[in-house]
Amino acid sequence: MGNRTKKLTIAIDGHSSCGKSTVAKDLAKVLGYTYIDSGAMYRSVTLFCMVNDLIEGDYVNEEKLKTSIQDFTVHFTFDAANQRYITWMNHQEVEDKIRTLAVSNNVSAVSKIGFVREKLVKLQQEMGKNGGIVMDGRDIGTVVFPNAELKIFMTASAQVRAQRRFDEIKAAGLEVSFQEVLDNIEKRDYMDANREISPLRKADDAVILDNSYLTKKEQLDKLIELVNQRNK
Ligand code: DC
Repeated sequence: MGNRTKKLTIAIDGHSSCGKSTVAKDLAKVLGYTYIDSGAMYRSVTLFCMVNDLIEGDYVNEEKLKTSIQDFTVHFTFDAANQRYITWMNHQEVEDKIRTLAVSNNVSAVSKIGFVREKLVKLQQEMGKNGGIVMDGRDIGTVVFPNAELKIFMTASAQVRAQRRFDEIKAAGLEVSFQEVLDNIEKRDYMDANREISPLRKADDAVILDNSYLTKKEQLDKLIELVNQRNK
């Protein structure tokens, strides 16, 4: 698989629910790299706002958040027995709580706040300072690691993404309608692409990966091929 002496920085950006984290985790595993889910960090700040009553509808109490965010911490562990990553907010396990539709519905309002992004971008840069990292999100190749050796921009049609997400939520035994899931994805696409600070956009040097009709294995193989090219 080529000579992997360099510890690359790999940025995977793209739309909501297009399978970025699945392929990013698989790639990190194959390469023996650290995987960081930056979306989980924005979700954790959102949960932090919800439990501290700092959010109501689309309104976030930025003044209070600005002070209380100083007490916010987030870190990740890997549960090898169950092969899953776990997100910790202020030393409490929040992996399931940050994946609920309630958090998904509030996360855009929180992730558009400048000082929230500043804080999380700093943490992300610190986590990746030694390379050997795969990070997924929206602004990783454009803002967090503009010098990443490999940048991927992933996408798939909104219908395909909503169907995948709907199947996952159903499989977890939760009640939701397909339309609700599709509406959430379309709303987040709009807000991600149209927010003032660090909107979702493809970095000029990113490789587009449309996975509407690709299997997980085909996506991973494509990424490994790109990593090997960077390592030549
Ligand atoms: O990847 P995800 O769907 O779990 O991300 C949750 C939200 O966080 C998403 O709606 C946009 C936001 N986000 C962001 O603004 N910047 C990132 N780097 C990652 C996520």
